[in-house]
Amino acid sequence: MKKFELPTIYFGGDYTPEHFPKDVMADDMKLMKKAGVNMATINVFTWGQLQPNEDEWTFEWLDEIMDTLAANGVFADLGTATASTPAWMAKQYPEILPTDETGLRWNHGSRQCFNPNSPKYRELSAKLVRKLAERYKDHPALAMWHVNNELSQMVGQDFSEITINKFRNWCKDKYGTCENLNKTMGLHFWGNNIYAWDELMPPMKTAHQHSTTLLLEWKRFINECYMEVAKAEIDILREITPDVLITTNFLYEYKLLDYHAWADMIDFISVSSFPDPKTTNHPGEAALSHDIMRGLKDQPFVLLEQAPSQVNWRLANVNKKPGVMRLWSHQGMAHGSDSFLFFQWRASMHGSEKFHSAMVPHIGENSRVFREMTQFGNELPYLNEVVGSDVQADVAIMLDYNNWWTCEFTPGPTALLNYLENLQAYHFPLFEQNITTDVIPVDRDLSKYKVVIAPLLYMIKPGFKESIETFVAEGGTFITTFFSGVVNEFDEVFAGGYPGPLSDLLGLKVEEFEAMKPYIKNSLKMNGAMPGLDGEFEARLWCDILQPGSAEVLAEYGSDFFKGSPALTVNSFGKGKAYYVATLPDNSFMRQFLNQVCAEQGVAPVVDAPENVEAVIRSNGKEDYLFVLNHNYDAVDVTLPAGEYFDLLSQQPVKSGLRTMQALESLIVKRIRA
Ligand code: GLA
Repeated sequence: MKKFELPTIYFGGDYTPEHFPKDVMADDMKLMKKAGVNMATINVFTWGQLQPNEDEWTFEWLDEIMDTLAANGVFADLGTATASTPAWMAKQYPEILPTDETGLRWNHGSRQCFNPNSPKYRELSAKLVRKLAERYKDHPALAMWHVNNELSQMVGQDFSEITINKFRNWCKDKYGTCENLNKTMGLHFWGNNIYAWDELMPPMKTAHQHSTTLLLEWKRFINECYMEVAKAEIDILREITPDVLITTNFLYEYKLLDYHAWADMIDFISVSSFPDPKTTNHPGEAALSHDIMRGLKDQPFVLLEQAPSQVNWRLANVNKKPGVMRLWSHQGMAHGSDSFLFFQWRASMHGSEKFHSAMVPHIGENSRVFREMTQFGNELPYLNEVVGSDVQADVAIMLDYNNWWTCEFTPGPTALLNYLENLQAYHFPLFEQNITTDVIPVDRDLSKYKVVIAPLLYMIKPGFKESIETFVAEGGTFITTFFSGVVNEFDEVFAGGYPGPLSDLLGLKVEEFEAMKPYIKNSLKMNGAMPGLDGEFEARLWCDILQPGSAEVLAEYGSDFFKGSPALTVNSFGKGKAYYVATLPDNSFMRQFLNQVCAEQGVAPVVDAPENVEAVIRSNGKEDYLFVLNHNYDAVDVTLPAGEYFDLLSQQPVKSGLRTMQALESLIVKRIRA
């Protein structure tokens, strides 16, 4: 596996000159130079232009684009063009079309409308990728491969005969016998047992709910199918262009795939990131997405698609106000992004995305957006030295895609359970206090962390009990929440009560849980046992009713029949502590609680800053880079901690102490080492 090392910050966007009259390309090159663009994502949805029929190929127009880019010092993030299939293909080979959960085959059109398991799709896409790789392998513009596009986004799952048979074989390989599958999936429930493999049905439209293990296994299977699609392309690219970086763009807060399983397959993580620019947007939303992306490979990543201003697919598409694009890009860098590409370079004249913002809007260069892009692009070389440095975090939040799937689709105790919101409930208060967090999978080495938080750890996978007990025994602090330790990796409930394998570590049992309607609230009353944290806080969504064993009670419920019973506990385990938060408390509690827990572990905020001023440190071992980002739409006063700094954006030395930051201003400084 190549290490991800970008030679420079790449800046640019999705580029589709084939959609415009030829002379526009000259203007593009002039404007790219002006804005400092050095990278263009091309050829993403162009299969229909490259191959007008099965026997004909027309690469000449792409040659011209590649040559023009190279002649102008712009690199290509070269798409493999497999995301959109040509019209002739569906006509000739209808099997390439996807089938939905009702058994209905979809029609050709739009984009990304293919059956990931169609052998014909696999065969024809492999042929295309091979041709592209052979043709451009030595081309000076080729900097990286962009495999397909946002795989699985449009066709989340396919239920064609091909896929159903493949799923049956997948289960046969995994379970060996129908009896074993019946047992593990609990298919005796509602008499769904199978006695022959062709009786096994995927979770298609039917009368009522499916086996939750079947749903889980189906999701795992579909994830693997899409991984195969990507892998088939990657294998060809690695064979022909072993030195060219490979990526495929992931999606902001996307749960259909298990991105942890994908991370090793590609050289670097890249993401399409489109947080809503409405002014009430919580800046932690993008921060969490970036932390998830950085955590997938524990290395810097690339913001491969951002909107220069508004998108075209929300109910109402708000513009990024002046300064927001620059600030949010700097935020991306603070959290580990080493390049900035946008969707899209020039606004298209046709089709559904013509009102999606672009670096060059319909009016052209005389526009606010292009001026902001030019300022941003011309400053980027000053930030080159940050590339490759690591984000410094002592706190980790665990994200597990299988948990995300299962705790949301399992019927009861509440359909209001939202995994991501529960991650945010911990991430946001830490973010708000400038305590940087990594977001990691459950099987990551924990030794570098002081505090590990696993919200909604419903499913406990083999090996987790041991690794988390070791972490805590050696002095770490672990926090988990209600609805944790409930099932094993096959969604089978642990006998003997929750939190199952975590019971010793947490020193308690859960006897019952209570789900609350949105208008019902309980409260969490501190009992004085936790130093530095007192008072009564709102509790919502869920209350676990606990039987504490060795755990010490820190807070009690304020109402209902379980009033006075524990709502927050801590258990000493070896040299460390394990907290159990039995409900979803309000943000005010979370801020104080997490602050206190972090302080006990010596984890302090990066900078003690006013509300909505974010601070993160990236370090390469030699240099520390402090990002201070004012997300407020007003000026605020910030105190830069003692030390001497060099401001990368203004290229001036900066003193510590009080300074005023303008609305949406970014300060990116290098700490001068004594
Ligand atoms: C995604 C796609 C792009 C484009 C943008 C629009 O990220 O990859 O092709 O459709 O969304 O926001």
